[in-house]
Amino acid sequence: MKPVKVGICGLGTVGGGTFNVLKRNAEEIARRAGRGIEVAQIAARRPNPKCETGATPITADIFDVANNPEIDIVIELIGGYTQARELVLKAIENGKHVVTANKALIAVHGNEIFAKAREKGVMVAFEAAVAGGIPVIKAIREGLSANRINWLAGIINGTGNFILTEMREKGRAFEDVLKEAQALGYAEADPTFDVEGIDAAHKLTILASIAFGIPLQFDKAYTEGISKLTSADVNYAEALGYRIKHLGVARRTDSGFELRVHPTLIPADRLIANVNGVMNAVMVNGDAAGSTLYYGAGAGMEATASAVVADVVDVVRALTTDPENHVPHLAFQPDSLSDHPILPIEACESAYYLRIQAKDHPGVLAQVATILSERGINIESIMQKEVEEQDGLVPMILVTHRVVEARVNDAIAALEALEDVVGNVVRIRVEQLN
Ligand code: HSE
Repeated sequence: MKPVKVGICGLGTVGGGTFNVLKRNAEEIARRAGRGIEVAQIAARRPNPKCETGATPITADIFDVANNPEIDIVIELIGGYTQARELVLKAIENGKHVVTANKALIAVHGNEIFAKAREKGVMVAFEAAVAGGIPVIKAIREGLSANRINWLAGIINGTGNFILTEMREKGRAFEDVLKEAQALGYAEADPTFDVEGIDAAHKLTILASIAFGIPLQFDKAYTEGISKLTSADVNYAEALGYRIKHLGVARRTDSGFELRVHPTLIPADRLIANVNGVMNAVMVNGDAAGSTLYYGAGAGMEATASAVVADVVDVVRALTTDPENHVPHLAFQPDSLSDHPILPIEACESAYYLRIQAKDHPGVLAQVATILSERGINIESIMQKEVEEQDGLVPMILVTHRVVEARVNDAIAALEALEDVVGNVVRIRVEQLN
């Protein structure tokens, strides 16, 4: 059988990795796919020194690939929203299947892209968009298809996890670790996407759609980054038996779905609390399988290429099947997606770590306890530290039981209004994940 011809758009970290893996493992991949896979064209503005492209034709214009009649599958690895959207829509228009690693594209324009792909009867695969080399989309979409998924929670940004790990283990400065993550090719072109949780929210949006059968709704995800975390909170969390991780949480409730990314305290003995460096992990809780955990490299040249090439193999295998019977893009049949809403963050429920800086006066603790109890907020643990020399203030650290966020917002406002409380109350959400 003739080889399937693919075109790679973008020869950066992931594009270079994809070319190398396709070339190095060509024979093994052909044995799995049932046909050879040939890179017929590459679109790249500059060569990648880590990639020996030999005689493969190279163009500077990505649309040459989308319009190339020889090409069956366009692999979109240019990143970003605008040009990538145009490229993918053009490829679909021309009847080509698409494989992409672009989480921003899928989270923001996925509904439009999938509708177009259904119209044209082509596949769009995006395993590499979430958690790099971990086949978590396939696991949820196919491996767990018997389950009603209750919740999922994941460390889904390698750069952020690398920064938090280096800060905690080696006391390194935030900026210094971020520079290293950029040099290693982990960080996004705009690294604020990593540190402010936007990249994780893109990925969480995709996971939630596949887990719950809902349209992609990135604009409704709550996003909070790690840039405001202090080493004081990292240390207090440790003293209370927790680790702080930047977590994406998607949870089914009766009134809607929670969709939130924020720093989170997790009990230190949970496996996911011990996922360090650039590694990612996603826990999925389903009614039949219970909790399952998927762990691996969340970013990097060949780890991400592994997922891209796996999608190419899936497309090649499916090329001969009935287009009406392809695995649906968002795991559920498009006409049976649910309209159960995404909840605003005020309606989400979590436990909370609160740090209050108070003047060293009698009765402050009692006032704090009153404010919380008046709002029905149950305290799980409390720790009062000695007076800090530099400002004469006493740090009070509380962990609450689970409560709706709106009540905590109200309590924080009341706490900050107390005469003996100085500055803002630090709030970090806590998840037990059990
Ligand atoms: N910047 C992303 C991360 C790359 O650090 O996880 C992989 O999506």
